[in-house]
Amino acid sequence: MITLIAAMDQNRLIGTGCGGLPWSDIHRDKQHFREYTLGKNLLIGRRTFEEMQGWFRSEDRPIVMTRNPNYNPGARFQVVNDLDEVLALSSEQEGEEIVVCGGAELYRLTLPVADRLVLTILYGDFPKQQGGVFFPEWKDEDFVEYRREEFEADSKVPFSMTFLYLTRRTGSKNMDC
Ligand SMILES: NC(=O)c1ccc[n+]([C@@H]2O[C@H](COP(=O)([O-])OP(=O)(O)OC[C@H]3O[C@@H](n4cnc5c(N)ncnc54)[C@H](OP(=O)(O)O)[C@@H]3O)[C@@H](O)[C@H]2O)c1
Repeated sequence: MITLIAAMDQNRLIGTGCGGLPWSDIHRDKQHFREYTLGKNLLIGRRTFEEMQGWFRSEDRPIVMTRNPNYNPGARFQVVNDLDEVLALSSEQEGEEIVVCGGAELYRLTLPVADRLVLTILYGDFPKQQGGVFFPEWKDEDFVEYRREEFEADSKVPFSMTFLYLTRRTGSKNMDC
């Protein structure tokens, strides 16, 4: 199973456009990400991986995606060079989840084969440069919502947010990518 996990604003903004997130630490979302991903295979684009240095826990199984066959992120990190390798891993590890943790290029690549989307929607107004970086548009008819948690703005987070869980409708997957 392939899951995409991402935090975005209502316009699908996920990155500033100059590296990094458009918002500063949101504790509740960070916790949600950590809980959902704990102990799973985490597929990460090379640029996001380099932003996340030092972040991984011993239980995580990070897999870095790069086109560079000589990229060496260190002994504990697996490397993949194309989507076929990811799909092969996913079918080898039947029953286990591969969680795609970004960034935008990785989301675009894997959305057509995603089984599940775990999305944090932030209802705020966030800065972006050079146009920003966006999560790809998904078709509402391809996914069904199976869970939702809503949080109002409070003294710690000045905007409301929703954790949205979507699962793919049978037969809507596009494997020709
Ligand atoms: N809000 C969120 O939830 C969230 C989550 C994660 C990241 N982000 C943000 O997203 C931004 C980074 O996204 P990004 O799109 O610039 O970079 P990215 O997706 O993290 O990484 C892109 C890199 O992945 C590799 N890659 C992409 N497609 C590939 C393919 N088909 N085969 C093999 N390798 C492939 C390439 O690495 P090589 O160049 O080494 O070949 C490419 O440069 C940052 O601003 C980050 O903060 C946001």
